[in-house]
This record gives sequence, C-alpha cells and structure tokens, in this order.
Amino acid sequence: MTLVDREQVASRLLRSSAKLSYDPETELDWDADLDPTLFAIPEQRVSLYGTPLWERMSHEQRVQLSWHEFASTASVGLWFELILMQGLLRYAYDQDPHSAHIQYCLTEIGDETRHSVMFARAAQKLAPGSRYRPPRLTHELGRFYKTLAAGPALFASVLVAEETLDRLQRESLSTPGLLPFAQDVCRIHVTEEARHVAYARTAVERQVARLSRRQLEWHRAQCVVTSVFVVAAFRDPAVYTAVGLDKDEAVRQARANPYTRETRRWMAERVTGFLADAGMISGPTSALWRRAGLVA
Ligand SMILES: [Fe+2]
Ligand SMILES: [Fe+2]
Repeated sequence: MTLVDREQVASRLLRSSAKLSYDPETELDWDADLDPTLFAIPEQRVSLYGTPLWERMSHEQRVQLSWHEFASTASVGLWFELILMQGLLRYAYDQDPHSAHIQYCLTEIGDETRHSVMFARAAQKLAPGSRYRPPRLTHELGRFYKTLAAGPALFASVLVAEETLDRLQRESLSTPGLLPFAQDVCRIHVTEEARHVAYARTAVERQVARLSRRQLEWHRAQCVVTSVFVVAAFRDPAVYTAVGLDKDEAVRQARANPYTRETRRWMAERVTGFLADAGMISGPTSALWRRAGLVA
C-alpha cells in the first residue's frame, strides 16, 4: 500500500471544509411539523421489520419505532463523538499545530461539536423526553477508552462508528418518501463525515505501517472489541418500551431477525473491507468480527 502525504490530504480537507460546512442551528428547520405517517429510516432497516411482532403493529406504531430508532442511533452517535473529540484533542496535544494535519484535526473537532448538538436536538424532536444511550457497562468502558486509546486502535474504531452510521444515513438520503427533517440531518452529517473518514483512513494506513507484529495484534484486538460494543449500542432497547411494545419480546425478535442481521453486516461491509486491506482485520482476532456478524 502506498502511503499518501498527510499534509496534502489535510490541506485538501481544510479547503473542502471552508467551502462546505454546515451550521445545523440555522440550516435545519427546527420548528417544522413532522408528518406522522413518514418513516425516519428506510422501513426495512427498522429492527423489527418482517418479524411476527411487526405484523401485529399498526402503521403508526411502525413509523414511531423508526423515529425512536433514529433518535437512538443519533444519541449513541453523539456518545461516540464525545469519545472521538477527546481522542482527537489528545492526539493534537503532542503535535505541531502549524501543520495542516493538526489544523484539520481541530476543524474536525469543531464539526463534531456541531453534530453532537444537532443529534441531541434531533433526538428530542423525534422522540421527546427520550434519553437513549449505550448500556451502563459500555458507558463505563468508554470512559477508559476515551482517556487511553491511541494510534490505529483509536482511528480504526472511529472509522467503524463513523462508517457504519454513514452507510445507513446515505441510504436514508437516497430513499424517497422518508421524513424530510430526518433526511436533512443525514445530509449535513454525511457531507462532513466524508472528510472525517478520509482523515481517519489516512491515519490508520500510516500508523499500521509503523507497528511491530505484536503491537499490531494488540491494536487489532482493541479495535474489534470496541467495534462490537459500539455497533451493539446503536439501538437502545428502551425504544421498544417507548412505542408500547414488550421490551424483552422485541429484543428477542430483533436479535433473531434475519433482516436486522443483514443490516448489521451491510452497515459494516465498507469499513471492514478497508480495515482488512489496511491489516487491521487479520490474525487470531478476525474470527471475532465474524462472530459479531460484522464480517460475513
Ligand atoms: Fe459526526
Ligand atoms: Fe465524524
């Protein structure tokens, strides 16, 4: 793999950021009425789609579940953005702030602060009164991770969080007939995330090339564990209670749902392809990716 010049990449990303960045505060119509008949994510991506429970649900209830699942994904995305922002700040601490590479790092933190506010407000608009978040254990593990993770384990996990969410948001954008407000949120996020993904991919490629065999295995292990926790956290089971379903039954049916499994694999497909090429998915820990349903 030929390594690209990171100053060149960062300069391009800085120019692109100057040309096209959003302020969700003014860009989104926060007071818009929401059409209660429109899904917030494509219908077949709702976790219960096609299950016996789904067959018993009214159209309104299905739509409501899609709104709550959108809110959950946004809220958990926000949680990971907090981890990412701290990781980027720690990364910048030891490096030259005059380089384009670190100036883009700081620009990305700026993007993420706006995204997090946007996700928080969007979640409240679609699911008023909700407080979706990762499970307690994941939240506590995140505390250590955001304080300690560095190198390819950090950037590769960031890619998993960003690219899985990105895949879903891109599909939402191109699906006709979805809730316009939800699509507007996706549009802003997808545009800015494309730059974040380019930045993190460059970092992973360069950092992996510097690792010893043993270090690489350690980073691979950290990456797969983090990725499994993050992807599992996207849907807070409280979404089921919020739309009047039995939580345990809904969790059981969603887990067994072949559509949901396929969605998870599909969301991870692009990023795991990159990580395999970059050497981050290989060796003893690669079986864990398959076990988690992230790699076919
Ligand atoms: Fe973001
Ligand atoms: Fe991002």
